[in-house]
Amino acid sequence: MPSTVTILAGPHIRTELPGPNARRVLEGDKTYVSPSYTRSYPLVAKRGRGVVVEDVDGNQFLDFSAGIAVVSTGHCHPEVVAAIQKQAAELIHMSGTDFYYENMITLAERLSAVAPMKGPHRFYYGNSGAEAVEAAIKLSRYHTKRQNIIAFYGAFHGRTMGALSLTASKVQQRRRFFPLMPGVTHVPYPNVYRRPQGTDPVEYAVDCARFIEQKVLKTTLPPEEVAAIFVEPIQGEGGYIVAPPEFLVELRRICDQHGILLVADEVQCGSGRSGKWWAIQHAGVEPDIVCIAKGIASGMPLSVMMTKKDIMDWVPGSHASTFGGNPVCIAAALATIDVLEREAIANADTIGRHIMQRISAWPQKYELVGDVRGRGLMIGVELVTDKQSKAPAGPARDKVVEMAFARGCLFLGAGENSVRICPPLIITREQADIGLDILEECIRAAEKSSDQRGKGA
Ligand SMILES: Cc1ncc(COP(=O)(O)O)c(C=O)c1O
Repeated sequence: MPSTVTILAGPHIRTELPGPNARRVLEGDKTYVSPSYTRSYPLVAKRGRGVVVEDVDGNQFLDFSAGIAVVSTGHCHPEVVAAIQKQAAELIHMSGTDFYYENMITLAERLSAVAPMKGPHRFYYGNSGAEAVEAAIKLSRYHTKRQNIIAFYGAFHGRTMGALSLTASKVQQRRRFFPLMPGVTHVPYPNVYRRPQGTDPVEYAVDCARFIEQKVLKTTLPPEEVAAIFVEPIQGEGGYIVAPPEFLVELRRICDQHGILLVADEVQCGSGRSGKWWAIQHAGVEPDIVCIAKGIASGMPLSVMMTKKDIMDWVPGSHASTFGGNPVCIAAALATIDVLEREAIANADTIGRHIMQRISAWPQKYELVGDVRGRGLMIGVELVTDKQSKAPAGPARDKVVEMAFARGCLFLGAGENSVRICPPLIITREQADIGLDILEECIRAAEKSSDQRGKGA
């Protein structure tokens, strides 16, 4: 943002929303752009700096969405911008699949040093989260010579046909796209908030894992024909649901027992967002494969599949991508890692704890709030119409997100009825407090209006 633009501590809304310039863009969008996109409110972004996004009418918003958990170091972090500019002036593309780039090795070394499993490691580079998942699907089949894959209800692994076959978060994502990839079995994810009444949360979570071994592998899927279990250590699009560590530990045991690969999809929860480098590290579990994208390059399109070295045994021609590991994206990733290691991961932990402390009483305080949970700066606030039945309050959630936008704060929904809090990892306590004040005000307003509706107002 040029220095002539003053960034205020909080949001600054100076026009109606959408403003006149935004309305012009929205018209063009309606004419030309795919109607498959899911926009919650009409933000037309023009520039960003840190946690602030400015729209085309000069309105400034505090960003608690980080471009769907992507701009980990904030918008246009100066070190990331400098790295991109330097690399763009030197070499933009040559294709790492046919030629070599030194920084493909440098980034591999940096990621190897912080991997959640013991080395040595190998790395495959792609451009998006879905591509990392596609690569992991293919490699799991290639390496094990087995065909089947187990994934979880509520999972989101991407929208390309292979990744979509594992995705089980919203039926619209699959409608009219069948047949998908065969050989995928979905099983329940441990959503502790929605566990059967009277059950212990840890026992329930462990039982979810054991269901795979005691039911699925005994009745429908021969274990020796299962290549991999794909799991998000914290489900993202499914509603920001944190798997208890014991569940992941049990998954690891089952995988070890049956020669199945454990694939951690850390596209959303990884790269420091959970307050540790990788969300699976909260459970002390070592995966075989990690899928990385989103936050790793602060907004440049880069994905990485990181594996234990002996697993990546495919031969030339098995898999590749023209753009994967693009030099400008890798330069952005290296600068991102500097910022993450120096300050942003620790900050995610500190501010995440502060936010959880501030919102932990919301389920007691507000009829509309059923649950709050999260790790680091990956926090979900689940809204329900009734505490007892836990009936999802989807429309109220949408209203809260829209109201927050009108007040200058960018939140997104997750799952059917949760608000996700996933700001850039460099957010300050003051900015977090401003956003929470606004979110709380919106929840209060939504609660009041649903009360009035209930009374027939
Ligand atoms: C856990 C997870 N995996 C994979 C993906 C797909 O990533 P992309 O949209 O970059 O293809 C997403 C995107 O939200 C995700 O959250």
